[in-house]
Amino acid sequence: MTESRSPLDGLLHGRRILVCVGGGIAAYKAAELVRRLRDAGGDVQVAMTEHAQHFVGTATFQAVSGHPVRTSLWDAAAEAAMGHLELAAWAEIVVIAPATADLIARLAHGFANDLVTTLVLATEARVAIAPAMNHRMWRHPATQANVAILREWGVQVIGPDDGPLAEGESGPGRLREPEAIVRALAAA
Ligand SMILES: Cc1cc2nc3c(=O)[nH]c(=O)nc-3n(C[C@H](O)[C@H](O)[C@H](O)COP(=O)(O)O)c2cc1C
Repeated sequence: MTESRSPLDGLLHGRRILVCVGGGIAAYKAAELVRRLRDAGGDVQVAMTEHAQHFVGTATFQAVSGHPVRTSLWDAAAEAAMGHLELAAWAEIVVIAPATADLIARLAHGFANDLVTTLVLATEARVAIAPAMNHRMWRHPATQANVAILREWGVQVIGPDDGPLAEGESGPGRLREPEAIVRALAAA
């Protein structure tokens, strides 16, 4: 019997990847992204914003990543094991998915007011964002200016796709499909 292989097999073999989950409706798709990154051979850890936890629980990400999930700077047990600076140094690739308008704004202005923004500011890893939001939020000049700042710093911007959105409207703002995010990270 032949072993079934994922089409993503080996694309990110052995790469240490930190997935940062923002507080948008597409947060549930980040669990699929973690699975696909692992299919691609990545060692994946997950950090979530406070708002992300309204959409998906930590248990889901713990199960799919095989690692404890970080949610706060103020977690004594986690800081005793792998502190946030160690986690920032551990990562070779940081991917923020979904990257909300709010998170993009804070990243573009150097905020370090929660775990995810602090990790991104403290890391020397390659950083990618996969934005997902309402199409008006995406088109807003504030969001576009913030994304331009991140691009200028060398942040890889993956998506968003144009299509149906969760609120029943359609336009640019859909999270790129997890497999396509993996391929974009591998190609960068
Ligand atoms: C039901 C619901 C869905 C939301 N979906 C999105 C979204 O898809 N994209 C977005 O940018 N913000 C969305 N928001 C707003 C964010 O949750 C809010 O701006 C928050 O501050 C995001 O911060 P964080 O990404 O740092 O967690 C949504 C809010 C609610 C209540």
